[in-house]
Amino acid sequence: EALLTEIKSLKAESAAQAEELRIKYLSKKGLVSSLFEDFKSVPPHEKKAVGMALNELKTEAQSTIQQLRDQFENAEPSGSGSDLTLPGTSFPLGGRHPLSVVRNQIVDIFARLGFTVAEGPEIEDDWHVFSALNFPPEHPARDMQDTFFIHKDPDVLLRTHTSSVQVRVMEQQEPPIRAIFPGRVFRNEAISARAHCIFHQVEGLYIDQDVSFADLRQTLLYFAKEMFGQETQIRLRPSYFPFTEPSAEMDISCTLCGGAGCTMCKNTGWVEILGCGMVDPNVLDNCHIDPKKYTGFAFGMGIERIAVLKYQIKDIRLFFENDIRFLEQFKSAL
Ligand code: PHE
Repeated sequence: EALLTEIKSLKAESAAQAEELRIKYLSKKGLVSSLFEDFKSVPPHEKKAVGMALNELKTEAQSTIQQLRDQFENAEPSGSGSDLTLPGTSFPLGGRHPLSVVRNQIVDIFARLGFTVAEGPEIEDDWHVFSALNFPPEHPARDMQDTFFIHKDPDVLLRTHTSSVQVRVMEQQEPPIRAIFPGRVFRNEAISARAHCIFHQVEGLYIDQDVSFADLRQTLLYFAKEMFGQETQIRLRPSYFPFTEPSAEMDISCTLCGGAGCTMCKNTGWVEILGCGMVDPNVLDNCHIDPKKYTGFAFGMGIERIAVLKYQIKDIRLFFENDIRFLEQFKSAL
């Protein structure tokens, strides 16, 4: 009895101490074992009761001392501390921003047609954003209302479109040129559900001998089908840009109703997604490319616009608010 209470209150402060206790009580010459030796001399009629008491004592000693040893063996897989077969703790994974997702999709699609990627500066000069692109001096796009000027210097400004990168690439490279230019652009506009003062564009440029409007159309049809699904149709409407002639705006069949008519396409069945055209000979000239030898096409689209149509997003401001509930929905859209 006394030995049982003694064993129950055993304590150890280290693995070595626990081992000492094991030897003291449970080893062959230990206290518990010696009691089993004495058991031989117990008279037969007491054997049952004494035997049961001894067994209880032994089990108690074994489990108490095992517990003491376990305290110091938490790192051991054999102990009760860790089970290596348990599932691990997972770390919260981030995801790509929807604008990056869509940008990468656009880059991938044009990469399959042999377009490489180039980038240019966001802070630009008048030449690359306007003058080289054939904007007349009084063109309204140069107006203070559209363009952010830095320190009111009319020659230092934030680019209003990625067409400035067209100019830089044409100035630096000989045709054939086949490249796209993704990047951030800035316009001094009131922020609303449909417009923002900062947004993203992807510009495309293809210059070589005998590049035709048919090449432009086929390239854009391929893009539209890859981006929005093979059933997508396109339509080109005549338009005007200073740097392309002829110019067009491209619509795709509505991604929501497929052309039947709904609120997104204002019942027309079509939504506008980009501007395009044949590079104006004046622009080629400005960039030291011979317009008699080479022709080319250019196009430009807003990444936000493509994303809004593809994922049916109601408010463009969501892209810039960093609301995790919005962003998390694009985790799997790699
Ligand atoms: N730069 C034009 C815009 O920002 C788009 C465009 C690019 C149009 C290339 C034609 C050719 O609206």
